[in-house]
Amino acid sequence: MASSDSPTSSIRGSELASDFTASLDIDRRMYREDIAGSIAHAEMLAKQGIISESDAKSIINGLNQIRDEIESGEFNWKPELEDIHINVEARLYELIGDAAGRLHTARSRNDQVATDARLYVKRIATECRAACRHLQRALLDRAEENINTIVSGYTHLQRAQPVSFAHVLMAYYEMFGRDAESFTQAEASADILPLGSGALAGATYPLDRNFAAERLGFSAISANSMDAVSDRDFILDFIFAASKTMTHLSRLCEDIVIWSSEEFGFIRLSDAYSSGSSMMPQKRNPDYAELIRGKTGRVYGSLISVLTTLKGLPLTYNRDLQEDKPPLMDAADTVAASLTAATGMIAEMTVRIKQMETASQGREILATDYADHLVREQTLPFREAYVQVAAYTRGESADEIDLPNITPADSIAARDIPGGTAPSQVRQAVMHGYGELWSARLRGEW
Ligand code: ARG
Repeated sequence: MASSDSPTSSIRGSELASDFTASLDIDRRMYREDIAGSIAHAEMLAKQGIISESDAKSIINGLNQIRDEIESGEFNWKPELEDIHINVEARLYELIGDAAGRLHTARSRNDQVATDARLYVKRIATECRAACRHLQRALLDRAEENINTIVSGYTHLQRAQPVSFAHVLMAYYEMFGRDAESFTQAEASADILPLGSGALAGATYPLDRNFAAERLGFSAISANSMDAVSDRDFILDFIFAASKTMTHLSRLCEDIVIWSSEEFGFIRLSDAYSSGSSMMPQKRNPDYAELIRGKTGRVYGSLISVLTTLKGLPLTYNRDLQEDKPPLMDAADTVAASLTAATGMIAEMTVRIKQMETASQGREILATDYADHLVREQTLPFREAYVQVAAYTRGESADEIDLPNITPADSIAARDIPGGTAPSQVRQAVMHGYGELWSARLRGEW
């Protein structure tokens, strides 16, 4: 317990923080960022001659010890000390005495918490991007195996045209590639150091903000102290990236639910990603897919929650801003877990080639190919060919038109243009995908 004359106790006057104002349960997850921010600040203060080298040294040693205590589970968290910042500072005071009181020179919890949150978003954005790359890799591997697997493609969930199943999987590969980029953008949006903004107006000491930025791995320092302590746009950007990713995951999962139904039977989920019913012995339910679809709403809720917290806030820091972290962390946890589950589901699913091929049989699904044939062979305008084939497929004029023997494989092979479903094109897309993921690996993304 910090003694009653500890400098940190004066922050809250004589009263203990109530459960209502405390945020420790949530923000203790930023302990690494909080400690890293404090170490960089202490180093900078010493470099600038604002505190002594020996005080900086004991502050840094103390902070490193606190990190060890937290990581080994020995740290004695005190909810009455409100948040992560005060918990760390109070423990530092216990460990090193008065020198601890010099750490908060030229710093406010306002620029401190903004710094912590930015470091945190940079880390989780990077983790989520890696999770997107892993899912892309699983999709690529399954696509490569299924370039010649024929399945019906759907519009309006009605059988439309035959496609390569790899082409289907590569559609999702594209989506998660865009999501990886969105997480990169969220990371860039968090990549600005607020430290040095003080409570709102800056600091009276000769700080070297660029030095602190460099120590913490930020590429820039904030330009306006009042904006810096109240800006949470980087949190919006992260949760938006998470929301968009959940949209794509939810679509993938909806397809998986459909494909794994008995009516379709296109895939079989592995035991790890399906569960039985407590009552009906025959059931294999796609619970993971359904839960990912269901959790999408939570992440959207987080986005709305932070948007609503920010609207109408007067400059600068307001305590409302403490409400940013529960939705941020929940969104991050949810999207990361959902990406990982989807990766396993895709990697382990069994593709039922026969069932897929059966769904792509019949002349209806080749109707567009017949119309194209009439356009080519009889130089009919497409609209006229369309009308003839429509009548034919309805069984109204079976012998009036002379149609070639086209198979679903012919139909697919004919779509041999960039972006099309012909096996040669899809193979190129898969190879291009491996190249993209290799570059991403060289950039250290996963
Ligand atoms: N727990 C607070 C938060 O998360 C830290 C900043 C508090 N600053 C203040 N002036 N009360 O926003």
